[in-house]
Amino acid sequence: MDNKRFYITTPIYYPSGKLHIGHAYCTVATDAMARYKRLCGYDVMFLTGTDEHGQKIEGKAKEAGVTPQQFVDDIVTAPGGVLDLWKLMNVQYDRFIRTTDGYHVEAIQKIFREMYDKGDIYKGSYKGKYCKDCEAFWTESQLADGKCPDCGREVHDAEEEAYFFRASKYADRVRDLLLNTDFLEPRSRVHEMVNNFIDCEGGLQDLCVSRTSFTWGVPVDFDPGHVVYVWLDALFNYMTALGYQNERYSDLEKFWPADVHFIGKEIVRFHAIYWPAFLMSLDLPLPKKVYGHGWLLLDGGKMSKSKGNVVDPYLLSERYGVDALRFFLLRTFPFGADGNFSNELLIQTINTDLANDLGNLVSRTTAMAEKYFGGKLPEAKQSNPELDQELGAMAVSLRNRYEEQMERFQFQNALEEIFKTVQRANKYIDENAPWALAKDMEANGVRLGTVLYNLLETVRICTILLIPFMPESCGKIFAQIGADEAARTWDSAWHFGILPEDVEVHKGENLFPRIDMAKELEELERIQEEARRAALPAIEIEPQTEEKVDFDTFCKSDFRAVKVKDCQRVKKSDKLLRFTLDDGTGVDRQILSGIAKWYAPEELVGKTLVAIVNLPPRKMMGQESQGMLISAVHTEKGEECLNLLMVDDKIPAGAKLC
Ligand code: ME8
Ligand code: MG
Repeated sequence: MDNKRFYITTPIYYPSGKLHIGHAYCTVATDAMARYKRLCGYDVMFLTGTDEHGQKIEGKAKEAGVTPQQFVDDIVTAPGGVLDLWKLMNVQYDRFIRTTDGYHVEAIQKIFREMYDKGDIYKGSYKGKYCKDCEAFWTESQLADGKCPDCGREVHDAEEEAYFFRASKYADRVRDLLLNTDFLEPRSRVHEMVNNFIDCEGGLQDLCVSRTSFTWGVPVDFDPGHVVYVWLDALFNYMTALGYQNERYSDLEKFWPADVHFIGKEIVRFHAIYWPAFLMSLDLPLPKKVYGHGWLLLDGGKMSKSKGNVVDPYLLSERYGVDALRFFLLRTFPFGADGNFSNELLIQTINTDLANDLGNLVSRTTAMAEKYFGGKLPEAKQSNPELDQELGAMAVSLRNRYEEQMERFQFQNALEEIFKTVQRANKYIDENAPWALAKDMEANGVRLGTVLYNLLETVRICTILLIPFMPESCGKIFAQIGADEAARTWDSAWHFGILPEDVEVHKGENLFPRIDMAKELEELERIQEEARRAALPAIEIEPQTEEKVDFDTFCKSDFRAVKVKDCQRVKKSDKLLRFTLDDGTGVDRQILSGIAKWYAPEELVGKTLVAIVNLPPRKMMGQESQGMLISAVHTEKGEECLNLLMVDDKIPAGAKLC
């Protein structure tokens, strides 16, 4: 039953640093899709994993002083790592592949050799540019302002003996695939691919598929010194994880070709051009679809592990709940386009959709059922076609509209359909004014019970369709509205009137509390500032000056020990302290020093300090300063620290320092 199985993948992530909310975006979308398909009765394979080879990881490991394997193990399996993040986000994948898994490595070696034996991989020499961050080769003409066109970073000259994949041979077939099928979506990405990489000057270039300048990769078994290009290694994960060219798994027949690869837009090139070309070379069936989603932007720029503006999914889900975060990601941005992430938008979405619309609907409905009926609705019903028809029709047809959007991966629109219904239900409360009906229970009690029942049914249908997005919260809503197993099934979302007439509700906790926006933004700012500080080096000292000063010039500076006779704040200045000093001459010396941030005046009286005394006098805040006190400065966690140089009290005032 081919039509009842569904194979969906996420990109496999580079474990080169902590994952951020942008990574969670794609995985949560894939999870929602996989859950939806499971609910629809499909046998689903949801694959995710990590892409662990390559120069970037080798470099990072070296920096960290560990082996590349230790480095990736740590990021993938350690607390707070990739596996943990997916657990936290409630991502229910069926299989997790690591490209360092033995079965995958062996399979890649076989694949490489087979393509070589077919003549589609040949040996040549590579000369061009390489972006380490994207692990991508570029020709001069592909660069954007001399930088990597994908990430904007510096590229480096690369020249080495290398194997090449004969991509050029497949140019026509790939062009046809892109232009004349809906292999790649959104369709808006098609022309960019065809124009820039296939119908460009010189046509589709053969792809360099081995490297010799580093070793962290799958070794080419018939040519030691070469490792397989990380993208060839990575792309085949989608098949090796099913058992292609290995004995570890045996699901290839069942699940290949994939129904869809969800990927970010910057890796569309690899998935829409080289991936199909590789598969064509091996006469393998092509995946049915590649969907290139947009980016979550921060202040207009792409979130990135290396930009330092990352938003931590752990922190956000701890504060707002995993479901709210999952919901936000898919409700706010159209999947195919970029979206600007902000904490404000996140809070606003939670407040509007979850607290106001859905949360309110559930809590008002269950509260009224408790208040007016002790929680158990009367069995008798009295409908009012004029008032009930629109809501009932909307709820019962909701799944159709929702599925139409889900099938096109338009999560935002699918959720929009649900929330239109939620809003309609809130309006239905106002139209029916249950509180007015409740004034005369004898006359209107049955009608009131019917109104509440209709509301519960609407909530029930909406909640079923929300399961792929907010699995946990939906369970809680079902419990509150008294929906038993039969009233939670996917099929029951087609029908209005599934809850028993005398359903019993249990008003529970407020599922989506309203967040005080201003207070919360302030708190987030504080947390971020703290994290920024914590990430700073513990102690920084200023680098030493290269420039030399000649000995005679240095000797002209007259440093003396001075004793503090008095010390006062300078009025109207936050910075300045005024010192009255004994410098051994018998005449008091006055020095002003901008150190009020670090010292209280009284703690300095009696101390022996060091001053340079032959500087020309200077006016500060209208007062004269005759010299300068010497202090030591350094930076601690980003904060400037200053310590006055204090010397032994044995040293008499006026003693010369040399
Ligand atoms: O590209 N918004 O791994 P990766 C949305 N190993 N998506 C984002 C994002 C953002 N701000 N930042 C990253 C790789 N992503 C390869 C994949 S597949 C055979 C190999 C998405 O860890 C990005 O678009 O750099 C990509 O799809 C995914 O995270 C993994 O990125
Ligand atoms: Mg990337």
